[in-house]
Amino acid sequence: MTSQDAQHKILALSSELEQHNYNYYVLDNPTISDYEFDKLLEELMALEKQFPEFLSENSPSQRVGGQITKNFQSVKHQYAMLSLSNSYNQEDLLDFDRRVKEGLGIVSQGGLFDEGIEYVCELKFDGLSISLIYEEGQLKQAITRGDGVQGDDVTTNAKTIKSIPLTLKGHYPNKFEIRGEVFMPRPVFDAINKEREEIGDALMANPRNAASGSMKMQDSAQVAKRKLDCFLYYVLGDGLPHQSHFDNMHAAKSWGFKISEDAKLCNGIHEVIDFINYWDKKRFDLPYDIDGIVIKVNNYNQQQNLGFTAKSPRWAIAYKFKAEQVSTELLSIAYQVGRTGAITPVANLQPVTLGGTTVKRASLHNADIIEKLDVRVGDFVFVEKGGEIIPKIIGVDLTRRKPNTDATQYTSHCPECHTELKRVEGEANHYCPNENECPPQVIGKMDHFVSRKAMNIDSLGGETLVQLYNAGLVKNIADLYDLKKEQILPLERMAEKSANNLIEGLEASKQVPFERVLYAIGIRHVGETTAKKIAKKVKTLDVLIHSTKEELLAIDEVGEIIAISIADFFGNPKNKDIILRLKQAGLQFELSEEQQQEGSDKLKDLTFVISGVFAKHSREQYKDMIELNGGKNSGSISKKTSYVLAGDNMGPEKLKKAESLGIKLINEEEFLEMLG
Ligand code: IVH
Repeated sequence: MTSQDAQHKILALSSELEQHNYNYYVLDNPTISDYEFDKLLEELMALEKQFPEFLSENSPSQRVGGQITKNFQSVKHQYAMLSLSNSYNQEDLLDFDRRVKEGLGIVSQGGLFDEGIEYVCELKFDGLSISLIYEEGQLKQAITRGDGVQGDDVTTNAKTIKSIPLTLKGHYPNKFEIRGEVFMPRPVFDAINKEREEIGDALMANPRNAASGSMKMQDSAQVAKRKLDCFLYYVLGDGLPHQSHFDNMHAAKSWGFKISEDAKLCNGIHEVIDFINYWDKKRFDLPYDIDGIVIKVNNYNQQQNLGFTAKSPRWAIAYKFKAEQVSTELLSIAYQVGRTGAITPVANLQPVTLGGTTVKRASLHNADIIEKLDVRVGDFVFVEKGGEIIPKIIGVDLTRRKPNTDATQYTSHCPECHTELKRVEGEANHYCPNENECPPQVIGKMDHFVSRKAMNIDSLGGETLVQLYNAGLVKNIADLYDLKKEQILPLERMAEKSANNLIEGLEASKQVPFERVLYAIGIRHVGETTAKKIAKKVKTLDVLIHSTKEELLAIDEVGEIIAISIADFFGNPKNKDIILRLKQAGLQFELSEEQQQEGSDKLKDLTFVISGVFAKHSREQYKDMIELNGGKNSGSISKKTSYVLAGDNMGPEKLKKAESLGIKLINEEEFLEMLG
C-alpha cells in the first residue's frame, strides 16, 4: 500500500468509525454489530501502526485508552465555571421569576395566565462537570471544573467517553467551548458493583463518585472500561449560530453532541413548575441519576442584561429535589455478614412511612460512619431515601437524646460464627476472617460456585444450597460432589426429578473448562476476565499454585493485590484440601488439549459464522477453536463470510442469506476435519 493510499484509508476508516460511535452512543441506534465495529477498528489500528505519521490525536483508536497521565496539568478556564444558586420549593421559584422580571424591567401582572419569560428547563445530571474546547471541529482540550477558575486537563480520559465527539460535523463555529456533565449510567454502576461484590472488592458508593473517581484515574484504558457517558448543556464562544440557548443546543446536537431529549422550552414560571412536578416522580425511571432541574432564561439578550453575581448567573437557577426525610427511633443495631465476609451494620428502626413505603431498617454503612454520626441505640435519627434503594441515616436529633447513653461500641466478633473480626488498614469495612466455616460465607461461596458464569449448575439454586447446608450435607464446594441422591431426596420440596437434575448438573459441571473453574473457586479479587487471563497463561492449576509472586505479576491483569490474594488462597491448607478433592472428583484443572495447543494458521484469512446447535462441542468452544487457529468469527453472514458452521436448527433467515450469497455450509465433522 502506498503511503497516500494508507492516508486515505485511515481517514475513511476514522470517519466511518466516528459515525458508528455516534450512531451507537448518541443516537442509541447502531447499524453494525460490535464484532464488525471491532474489525474496522483493528484495521485502523494496524494501519496507524504501519504508518504512524498519519496517526491523529483524535483518531477513534484513541478511545480505547492506554495512555497514562501521571499528573493532571492544572489549566485556567477561559470563562470561569460558575455554579448555580439553588431553590427548593415553589416560593423560591416564584422569587427567581420575580427577580428575572425586575432585572429586565418587565412589570409582572402575576397570575396563571401571565405569559412571562421563556425558560429552558433541563434535567440536572448528577455527575461531574466538564468543559470541552473545540477548534476547527477537533476536540482540543477537556478540563474539569476544579475550583471554577482552574481545573485539571483530563483530555486523554475524556476521549474514552464514546458520546464525546472527537471531530465534529455540520456547520460548527471555528472555536468554542461546550460544557456538560460526565456521568456513569445506573446499569453500568450496578454491573461494576455486582462484579466487585462477586470478587470481594469494596463497593463504589454512588454513580457520581464513581464517575468523578473514574475521570481521575491515571490509566485511560481503565477509564474506557468505566463506560462513562456525557450530556452537554451549555455552549459558549463567539460566533454561535443563534441568539438563544435552546436553539444553540439544537445546533450543538447537529454537530454531533449528545444533548438531552428531555429539555423543554417553557412559557412562564408555571410551566416550569409543571415540568418540575413531572420529573420529581419520573426521575426514578431514568437510567441515570438526576438531583434536580436547571432553569435557564432562554434569550441571550436577556441573559446578558441579567448578568452574573460573583458566584452564579442571575439568569439560571437549580431546583433541587427533596430527598424525603423522617425522624424515628433507633431500636437496635444488627450486624450482617456478606458472602465475602464483609460486615454491614444495619439499623432496626421504629417503623415509619417514607416515600410511600414502610421503613424498618436502614444501612449504617461501617464503623467510621457510626462514629462520625455518633448514633446510639434509643436515639431519634433522621432517615432519608436518596437515589439508593436502601434508606440511610443522615443524622441524629440530639435534642431528643436520652440522658446517660453510651457511644456505640462496634461489634468485635462475627455475629454468625463469633470469630474475632479484622479490619484491613485503609479499608472501611470489618471482615470475618473465618471464610471456610462462617455460614453466610460458606453458602455465599457455594452460591458463587454454582452461578451461571462459574460452574453453571442451574439445578442447584440458592435455596437448595441453604437446605443442603442446614441439613449438614455440605460444608464446602468439594462436599457437593460427594452428594448422593438418597441424601437429597428427604429434603423438603425435593422430588425424584429435581434430585436427578441436581446430580446430573453436578456431573455435567465436570466438563466446565479450567478458566471457569478458576473463577468458580472464589479467590478474592479474581473475576471472570482475570481468571481467563491466568488460565491461558499458566495452563494448569499446578503451575499456578507453584508460581512465584513475580511470575504472577507478569500476567496481564494481575497486580499486587490479586497476586497476594492468590498466594493467600493457596497458602491456606483448607483451600488446598478442597482443591485436591475437586481434582479427585474430576473437575478440569488444566486447559483442554485444543486450548493447550498454541494454535495454528490453518484457518488464516477465513471468516466463520456459527449458527445452530452442536453435538460435539459448544458454540463457545467452536468460537475459541476458530480464533486459536487464526480464523475470524462474525455474527452475520455477508460476502466476506468464508463458511457457515451450521449445526441443528439453523435459523431459516441465515440459511436463505447463505444460499443467496453462495456461501458454503459445513457441519461440525467437516469443520473438525479442517483442523485435522
Ligand atoms: S448549567 C452557568 N445545566 O450542576 C451555568 N448545569 O451548580 C452552568 N449540572 O456545576 C451550569 N446538569 O455540574 C447546567 N443541565 C444542566 C446541568 C448542570 C447538571 C451541574 C453542573 C454545575 C452544577 C450547578
